[in-house]
Amino acid sequence: MQEKLKQLKKEAEEKIASAVNLDEIEKLRVEYLGKKGDLTKILKDMGRLSNEERPIIGKLGNEVREMITTAINEKKEAVRQVILDKKLEAETIDVTMPGTEYKIGKKHIISRMIDEVTEIFMGMGFSIAEGPEIETVRNNFDALNAPKDHPSRDMSDTFYITEDILLRTQTSPVQIRTMEAAVKTGDLPLKIIVPGRCFRSDSPDATHSPMFHQIEVLVVGKDITFAEFKGTMETFVRKLFGPETKTKFRPHNFPFTEPSAEIDVSCFKCGGKGCSVCKGEGWIEILGAGMVHPNVLRNCGIDPDEYSGFAAGMGVERLGMLKYGIDDIRLMFENDARFLDQF
Ligand code: DAH
Repeated sequence: MQEKLKQLKKEAEEKIASAVNLDEIEKLRVEYLGKKGDLTKILKDMGRLSNEERPIIGKLGNEVREMITTAINEKKEAVRQVILDKKLEAETIDVTMPGTEYKIGKKHIISRMIDEVTEIFMGMGFSIAEGPEIETVRNNFDALNAPKDHPSRDMSDTFYITEDILLRTQTSPVQIRTMEAAVKTGDLPLKIIVPGRCFRSDSPDATHSPMFHQIEVLVVGKDITFAEFKGTMETFVRKLFGPETKTKFRPHNFPFTEPSAEIDVSCFKCGGKGCSVCKGEGWIEILGAGMVHPNVLRNCGIDPDEYSGFAAGMGVERLGMLKYGIDDIRLMFENDARFLDQF
């Protein structure tokens, strides 16, 4: 029996040593240590042994079992390690390989222009206000003192939703909303800058788009004079186009301002000599503006004898086109990254 056990031990050692995967090891475990395994079989026969032999064989049997158990566990661990090593090797990351390039977009010129302009005004103490793109005819026209027969009110010029509701044609209705809200909450005086999207029934061409952006400026307070108006606009223009830029206030007509002006700036490209940007004029028109019409103040519940103000409105696309030398407004809305990435 002793011989049998020694033989079994030797055989098991060899087989375990040559096993190469976990399945094989498991089979060997069952073969030697299982209920019907070889070792169990041998030990079952111990009953037939003499009293002297039994403890010796019993001890040897336990040693053999322990040895096989340890060998199997160690082999299992070793095989697992090999599998893990292989896996790690296969999954090695070469950190020196060039990565996949992700294309990161950039701010659209329109957003950039809006940021630039609003930042200049915020630096002068203005806060940003916003209003809805779907407006009432009252806020977009009536309260802004636009007479009923004003050409911009025409069906062919404006997108009406109903008789009383339209897509705003300008950011000026936010003047009405802000003034009325300020009267209610007692928040006068006010200084706001209003960027936003506007709509007009224009056929797209190089200088027209049915959807475009404006930035509105509004100041209302006591003792706001033409001097404040001029000083603020000149400061803005110099910050946007450079300290040498000159301004020209050219008389104009808007229903919501009196007096009204269009503001021209000396051409930032040629400095006023005349070039392709200013079309030989030396001056470029950049915005409409004026002193808030007393009727507009009255329409919002503000006493024009007590309060006055000034307002301005500018086209964002136009500013961007001038600044970056873009000759077709449609390019801004085609979302062609080859175009947009240039700015
Ligand atoms: N809303 C005018 C337009 O769309 C621009 C404008 C002119 C706004 C004069 C103003 C202003 O606030 O005072 O053409």
